[in-house]
Amino acid sequence: MASQYPLNTAQDAEIEKLLRCRKDFPVLSKLMNGKRLAYLDSASSSQKPQAMIDSMTEVVELGYANIHRGLYAYSQELTSAYETVRQKIADLICADSDKEIVFTRNATDGINLVAHSWGRKFLKESDEIILSVMEHHANIVPWQLLQADIGFKIRTIPILENGALDLEAYAQLINERTKMVGIVHVSNALGTINPVKDMIATAKAFNPEIITLIDGSQSIVHCEIDVTDMDCDFFIMTGHKFFSTTGVGALYGKYNVLDTMSPYQGGGDMIDRVSFSGTTYKEPPYRFEAGTPPFVQVIGMGAATDYFTALDMEVIQRHEHNLLQYMESSLREIEGVRIIGNAPDKAAVVSFTMDGLQTADVAAILDQCGVAVRTGHHCCMPLMEALQIDGTIRASLAMYSVREDIDQLIEGLYKARGLLL
Ligand code: ALA
Repeated sequence: MASQYPLNTAQDAEIEKLLRCRKDFPVLSKLMNGKRLAYLDSASSSQKPQAMIDSMTEVVELGYANIHRGLYAYSQELTSAYETVRQKIADLICADSDKEIVFTRNATDGINLVAHSWGRKFLKESDEIILSVMEHHANIVPWQLLQADIGFKIRTIPILENGALDLEAYAQLINERTKMVGIVHVSNALGTINPVKDMIATAKAFNPEIITLIDGSQSIVHCEIDVTDMDCDFFIMTGHKFFSTTGVGALYGKYNVLDTMSPYQGGGDMIDRVSFSGTTYKEPPYRFEAGTPPFVQVIGMGAATDYFTALDMEVIQRHEHNLLQYMESSLREIEGVRIIGNAPDKAAVVSFTMDGLQTADVAAILDQCGVAVRTGHHCCMPLMEALQIDGTIRASLAMYSVREDIDQLIEGLYKARGLLL
C-alpha cells in the first residue's frame, strides 16, 4: 500500500476549507457494502449538494405550477426563477447574453440539437466535419445519423501515444470542405485537457465560417470556462455531472449562429403563432425549448451553479491536481498497473489496466471494498480501438474527493491482485 502518503492531509488551509464541502453532499457519508464509500465515479455523474436537493424539493412542495403559461403567482414566480438560471449559466461560462443559453435534457440532447438544427440545414454531401478520435459516442453518433441522410464526410483527429490529440494531424485535416469541428474539452476516458482555444483559432484562421462545437461535459467542473474568449460557436454541458440532477443540461450557442437555425422539435412554448396556413417560431433560445421544459431540474441546476461558483476554482484545481498526482504515483507502485493517457495537461480522471486482470473482475472486488469506479469503454469505443484495448478501470475525482478515497482504491487493487492472480 502507498502508506508513505499521509491520510487526508490538506495541503493548505484553503484546501482544508474547500473540503468542508463534503458535509454538503449527503451520499458521501453513506456506506456501500458496509464500507466507507470511496466515490471515484464523478466523471460518470457527480454527487449532489443538499442546497440543490432542497431547491428542487421547495419547487415541488411549496409552490408548484407549470411555467410560461399561468397568470397566477406560483406560475409567474417559477417562470422568473427558471429564466434567472439562464443568466446564471451565461455568467458561469462567460457568455455575452442569456439569450445564448438553451436548456436541454443533457449533453447528448444538446449535441443532437446542433446536429439537427444546424447540421441538417447547413451540411451538404460534399462537406466534411472533423471530430477527434477521443469523442464520447454522444459527439459521434448524432453526426453519423445525419451523415446517413446527407452523406458528408467525417474526418477524425488521431491521438498521440501519450493520449493527447495530434495537433499537427488536426491542422492537416482542415480544408475548404471543412464545415464543422467538434472536440471534447476534457476526455471523460483519459482526462486529457485538449487545447480547445488554440484548436478553434486554427480552424477559424483557415476559415472563420467553420463552426466549432466544444463538448464541455467534463470540463465544466474542472476548468474555468470562458466561451467568449474560447470563441466557440457551441459549448455543451450536462447538469448531472455538474452537481445537479439528470434530465437537464445547457447548450451555449453564439446568438448569430442560433438565429440561423430552425427548431428540430415542435410544440409547447417554442412557437410565435400556429396556423394550418403556416407556423412561426419564437426567437432563440426559446425556439429550441419545445414542450413543458424540465423547470424543476433547471432551478436545481441554478442552485448547483450558485453552490459551485461560491467555491474558489483556483483552489479546486490545486486540490484536484494534488490528488491526481497522488493517485497516479500510488497506482504506479502496483505491479502490472498501466496508466492509459499521460498527456501533459490532465484533469482529475485516471484510466488504467492491470496485467492479467479483467477490468470487470477488479470492479467487482472494488465494489465489495466500498470503492465506486467505472470500467469498460466509457462510451468511447473508437478511442479504445485506437489504443488497442478493450477498456480501462477509471477513477475520477471531484472537488469533494479526498486522499482516503484513493487509499481505499489502492488497498482494493492490492486485494484484487491477491484474489485474482
Ligand atoms: N459519460 C459518462 C462517463 O464518462 C457516463 O462515465
